[in-house]
Amino acid sequence: MTDTTKPNQVTIFDTTLRDGEQSPGASMNLEEKLRIALLLERMGVDVIEAGFPVASNGDFEAVREVARRVKDSVVCGLARSSRKDIDRAAEALKPAARKRIHTFIATSPLHMKIKLQMEPEAVHQAVIDSVSYSRKFSDDVEWSCEDGSRTEHDFLCRCVESAIKAGATTINIPDTVGYAIPEEFAALIAMLFNRVPNIDKATISVHCHNDLGLAVANSLAALRQGARQVECTINGLGERAGNAAMEEIVMAIRTRNDLLDYQTGMRTEHIMKASRLVSAITGFAVQPNKAVVGANAFAHEAGIHQDGVLKNAQTYEIMTPESIGLGQSKLVMGKHSGRHAFREKLRELGYDELGDNAIQELFARFKSLADNKKEIFDEDIVALVDDQVARVSEHIRFVSLNIVCNSSGPQEAALVLELDGEEKSAKATGNGPVDAAFQAIKQIFPHEARLQLYQVHAVTQGTDAQAEVTVRLEEAGRTVNGQGAHIDTITASARAYVHALNKLLTKRQKTAPAALSA
Ligand code: KIV
Ligand code: ZN
Repeated sequence: MTDTTKPNQVTIFDTTLRDGEQSPGASMNLEEKLRIALLLERMGVDVIEAGFPVASNGDFEAVREVARRVKDSVVCGLARSSRKDIDRAAEALKPAARKRIHTFIATSPLHMKIKLQMEPEAVHQAVIDSVSYSRKFSDDVEWSCEDGSRTEHDFLCRCVESAIKAGATTINIPDTVGYAIPEEFAALIAMLFNRVPNIDKATISVHCHNDLGLAVANSLAALRQGARQVECTINGLGERAGNAAMEEIVMAIRTRNDLLDYQTGMRTEHIMKASRLVSAITGFAVQPNKAVVGANAFAHEAGIHQDGVLKNAQTYEIMTPESIGLGQSKLVMGKHSGRHAFREKLRELGYDELGDNAIQELFARFKSLADNKKEIFDEDIVALVDDQVARVSEHIRFVSLNIVCNSSGPQEAALVLELDGEEKSAKATGNGPVDAAFQAIKQIFPHEARLQLYQVHAVTQGTDAQAEVTVRLEEAGRTVNGQGAHIDTITASARAYVHALNKLLTKRQKTAPAALSA
């Protein structure tokens, strides 16, 4: 946890569960949000923005559950400037050990005129009203000027000064549309420090979007002018081109501490796990050459580079793989590994909250994987656990799949599923084995949901690698992502499809998210 009394401490504010989730297709359910929140807490994230409680009942419940379970990080809920929004955020945050209300309103001429249809005076009054009202529920209140980087300076200074007077303890300056360039954004922060008389009474925060690929550069430039909170997301997830990537901010500070003389309270060795988890849950693959967490970030292909790295890793590596959790594993697993070693491995990988039954089932699956696969990597076990966790409270359960596949087609699938405990089977043909398997699922469980994404990712290298599949389904405006992992790609696909269907069934009982802008 960051010690904010130290002048060079930077507060890490993660908004993966709010701004990240706002990217189309990245919706997460309560259990998934909770898993991410608990990992963020473990990583040492200072503030977790858990959602936008007024947006939907699902968002409200997720914020409330995160507020209940997270103890070390501050849990934050977003609210527009209306009392209704703030009441809902305050209600959801009630169980939190440490809570923050984050209220915002747009301040740029364009947004005020076109989106809000409000005069600047009315916006200014809304700033004062919303911040003072939020202070009735929490001493920790953040105020954001949406589209701050395109706001007129005089008006911005006036709003910031009033927000601080009204009780805001953090002032967040967003580059909402990712328009700023680093020198310009740094000058904006410097301008605020020069012109706002009470600026020293609040922490200045920045929230940069990545439309020009400058979100991280802008955030770092702002730190050099006195900003001490950075809002960011895992893998840079977020609307359009995303938000500033947390792993890049944190590793830049750590790696270039000679120039970026700041500290964070982050335990960076969890970065890789968080990246994988967010990617698996949302179905947003990480590009191989992505900084810090891409599959190639530590791969050296060119002979001259390999030679250098073998002699001394520092020749081509500016940070160690271990520093982000890619280190050499202490325990190597194989088909001779026993239950005890398996438990230890789960603990080593950070899964220390799994119950006995879950471990039992996982061990059986691990054994069967080890029978079919020469080497078992940590990633294999992580994929197994992710697949298993995804199968909690299932109405539809995958039982077995038999595929007949040949190059002249048609391909055939014989599938067995359990519907609320009752076994059902079907045979179907299709354009390829995946299509045949999905047709068989539709026969057993007819539905109107449309397939929006089908994605396969090899968990490790080698032809015997497990496949990790994401299936995104859409039904009546609701989108869900299902995951499945298996050494057989078609089985992984069917498991992912069934997982997505189960999530849709749960979602059907809940209210559809209201279309809100943030
Ligand atoms: O991008 C933005 O302006 C936001 C605010 C709500 C902070 O997400
Ligand atoms: Zn944003």
